[in-house]
Amino acid sequence: MFKYLRVSVTDRCNYRCVYCMPEEGICKQSHEQIMRYEEILSVIKTAVAQGVEQVRITGGEPLVRGGIVDFIAEVAQIPGLKDLTLTTNGTLLTRYAEALKKAGLNRVNVSLDSLNPETFKEITRGGKLDEVIAGIDAAVAAGLNPVKINTVLIPGVNDGEIINFIDFVVARAISVRFIERMPFKAVELPPDDQFISENQVLAVISQKYQLEKIDNDSFGPSSAYHIAGSGAGVGFISSRSRPFCQCCTRLRLTADGYLLPCLDSEVGVYVRGMTPEQISESMTQLAEQKSSWQKRHACYASTFASSLSKIGG
Ligand code: GTP
Ligand code: 5AD
Ligand code: SF4
Repeated sequence: MFKYLRVSVTDRCNYRCVYCMPEEGICKQSHEQIMRYEEILSVIKTAVAQGVEQVRITGGEPLVRGGIVDFIAEVAQIPGLKDLTLTTNGTLLTRYAEALKKAGLNRVNVSLDSLNPETFKEITRGGKLDEVIAGIDAAVAAGLNPVKINTVLIPGVNDGEIINFIDFVVARAISVRFIERMPFKAVELPPDDQFISENQVLAVISQKYQLEKIDNDSFGPSSAYHIAGSGAGVGFISSRSRPFCQCCTRLRLTADGYLLPCLDSEVGVYVRGMTPEQISESMTQLAEQKSSWQKRHACYASTFASSLSKIGG
């Protein structure tokens, strides 16, 4: 059964990261196509009643949707929910971090692919590094802990910054996860794409820091380490070199109302207009489909349906 639900509240984003969206953006859904908050809440309540313990709010960029703080406050009230988290690009955290904490959000993961302002601007197509760093600091100050940085490593672009990232998280006692870039139909990988393997990154880090393996990083796909002598950590999300599909207990809800049993789903259930009983039944069916399908499926092997901004990461 599903333990973890990722909820995309919008497909819109104020960035255009090169690995996520084409320059012109993706075809946005109209307001009518996007689920209302009360509809989303009803799906989350049903999922929690069925055993989901962790909910992650995603986008696009979730903080660009109006009313997000009040929505999060309502999700936080759902009895039985153990962990309520958010994945964001960090641009609006200076404005929202404190209010999010007060609303009952437990923690945030923030995308940050470069500590060099020029490279950051290139990857995000116009983003301002200072804004995101201030957002990360605001999240730490607000007590949204642990703050995790998500860094998609792109060969020849930001792979020279591994130690800079470790220095950055050590200074703040937070964590960074290095992510292998995944292919999506909206932005396919270049034909000569190579990823930087976990072992290569570990070798670089161990020139300066000592790492201690952590057994379990919640329900996440990340393999995680403590950086010795600091309050900081480093993790790896290696869907291509170390696929984790077999132990995945995740369900996704897209902003336009589809429940997807996997990031790479070709099947989905449109839940708008369904009663809680019907949604619950669909979840049971999706869980059954997923467990039979998982035996012959590996995320990393195929091209994902669309773009992460549509599916919610
Ligand atoms: P934690 O609960 O803190 O472990 O968060 P998380 O890693 O589950 O969520 P986050 O939104 O920070 O995602 C980090 C990266 O993992 C992103 O690149 C996601 O696309 C990727 N990811 C999350 N879930 C899956 C999954 O089920 N399959 C694959 N292949 N990648 C995933
Ligand atoms: N491959 C891997 N990670 C990606 N993300 C967005 N697109 C991709 C991709 N093609 C990451 C972002 C963000 C998270 C939700 O997904 O960096 O941290
Ligand atoms: Fe926006 Fe996140 Fe996609 Fe970047 S990766 S364009 S921040 S949704």
